[in-house]
Amino acid sequence: MNRRFSEYTTIAEIVTQYPQTRRLLEELGLDYCCGGKTSLQDASQKAGLSCQEVLTKLNEKIDQSDSKESPPKNWMAVPMTELIRHIVDIHHTYLKENLPRLKNLSEKVYRAHMQHHGDMLQKLKQVLETLRIDLEMHLAKEEEILFPLIREMESFANNQGPRPAVHCGTIQNPIQQMEYEHQSAGELLGQMRKITSDYQLPADACRSFQAFYEGLQDLEQDLHEHIHLENNILFPRALQLERQKVS
Ligand SMILES: [Fe+2]
Ligand SMILES: [Fe+2]
Repeated sequence: MNRRFSEYTTIAEIVTQYPQTRRLLEELGLDYCCGGKTSLQDASQKAGLSCQEVLTKLNEKIDQSDSKESPPKNWMAVPMTELIRHIVDIHHTYLKENLPRLKNLSEKVYRAHMQHHGDMLQKLKQVLETLRIDLEMHLAKEEEILFPLIREMESFANNQGPRPAVHCGTIQNPIQQMEYEHQSAGELLGQMRKITSDYQLPADACRSFQAFYEGLQDLEQDLHEHIHLENNILFPRALQLERQKVS
């Protein structure tokens, strides 16, 4: 095998250690957020790709970025409080701005194209609306319950605050709930891809139609990165801290 990882390495381990591979994994259709716990071999097989070819491409990407780009931020090495601030400032803000914008755009495009693409746009609009409602509740739960608890745990572990009162028994319970909600958000993104045949624009698409599809693809990419930071980095670190220091 190669020098960096093997076919048994999980996708989460690869993308956590080498975040520059994210875009390539996305292009290859390998799920690195909700499906991060899958081995490279199983994920490649599921995507209908040769594991050896995927390994070669990943190594090429890392070699290129080693020589050209500045190293990406290592989120394993900064306080969790800083990672939480990044998640909220960048990814939660992105969703709060873009979910209402995409809802308006979906209605505009539906009204303009209902004659030829009514069924498809209606389905798409409904899935997007479910995603918007689910995610807005999800963000609130993270910001009001889980993230403050992780911040308190970290302060306690650094002797900078009192022992946190974990009303839910262990932090594992809210984390499992958040992972479950990530899974269903991922499924809704998959449904939107299916409905739009991988965001293939129809020949008569106008500029708004184009902006709508671009916005949905951008949302997908941002949400994948967001879920990766939570599922593969923040949550495992919080669980480890609870096991070591807090309980
Ligand atoms: Fe989040
Ligand atoms: Fe989340």
